[in-house]
Amino acid sequence: MTIDVARSIPEIRNIVAKAKQDGQTVGLVPTMGGLHAGHISLIEHAGSLCDHVVVSVFVNPTQFNRKEDFENYPGNEAEDLKVLSGTCTNSVFAPSATEVYPEGFATSVTVSTGDKILCDAHRPGHFDGVATVVTKLFLQTGADIACFGEKDYQQLFIVKRLVADLNIPLRIEPVPTVRETDGLALSSRNARLTPEERLLAPRLHRALEQVADAVRGGEAASLAIAKAQTWLESDNRFDVEYLEMRSGKTLEILERHDEQDEPRVFIAANLGKVRLIDNIGV
Ligand code: PAJ
Repeated sequence: MTIDVARSIPEIRNIVAKAKQDGQTVGLVPTMGGLHAGHISLIEHAGSLCDHVVVSVFVNPTQFNRKEDFENYPGNEAEDLKVLSGTCTNSVFAPSATEVYPEGFATSVTVSTGDKILCDAHRPGHFDGVATVVTKLFLQTGADIACFGEKDYQQLFIVKRLVADLNIPLRIEPVPTVRETDGLALSSRNARLTPEERLLAPRLHRALEQVADAVRGGEAASLAIAKAQTWLESDNRFDVEYLEMRSGKTLEILERHDEQDEPRVFIAANLGKVRLIDNIGV
């Protein structure tokens, strides 16, 4: 299938307008490239619900709070387009940074969900950058649905809030996390792990499972978390930023397992130079 690549806002608007004129529904999958099977799963999900699938590929500078992370973000557009040509993608929106943020750009979207928790506490400004860029993507594409991965659960949570609060006529579709066979959640950042770190990386998911198993068995979350964190950090390779059990509905901290809260365990940890995040439902 030939995929139209739009570089400018008028181009993507034209593509979507044509699809809509033909009576097609439009699904959006926002990405920052470095595409892997997790992204593909979002694209296939969008394709199962909509006639026309738009994938955006834009490494959004405003959501990186560490310059080094932005500069080292794995990007290879030719490779991404090759991957997309084997999927149900109909069009790609791959704008430049100046197309998205022209000179004088001075607007930011902030979703104030209360205390700064999880990644919001450790990556100042990150979710403002995400909220601003996804708002722009929703407005430019006028999509009927947009797919987001549970891998970035707090992002999904914030984007749902944003769409509800601004009455954006678009439905957010959550998609489960895709993992390697050893449990490691797929991430564009995994490519930056050394071969040795790659072997250690699945321990992150194992730590989540340890906490989930223990709290399901009646243990208090704080105790289960302390044990799992000690285990994970025991050989000084992982540096844990947070490991917490929270409600999947409200993101409030939980000490005891109760199914009604839809508990989830969340982790962020640095392994060498790479910051990894993951979460699972308990
Ligand atoms: P990116 O990290 O490229 O992720 C794009 C989408 O893919 C997000 O919705 C993310 O949750 C999902 N995803 C990533 N890894 C996944 C996995 N292993 N399984 C399932 N889904 C996965 O998230 C972003 O980009 C950006 O913040 C963005 C929303 C594009 C805004 O710039």
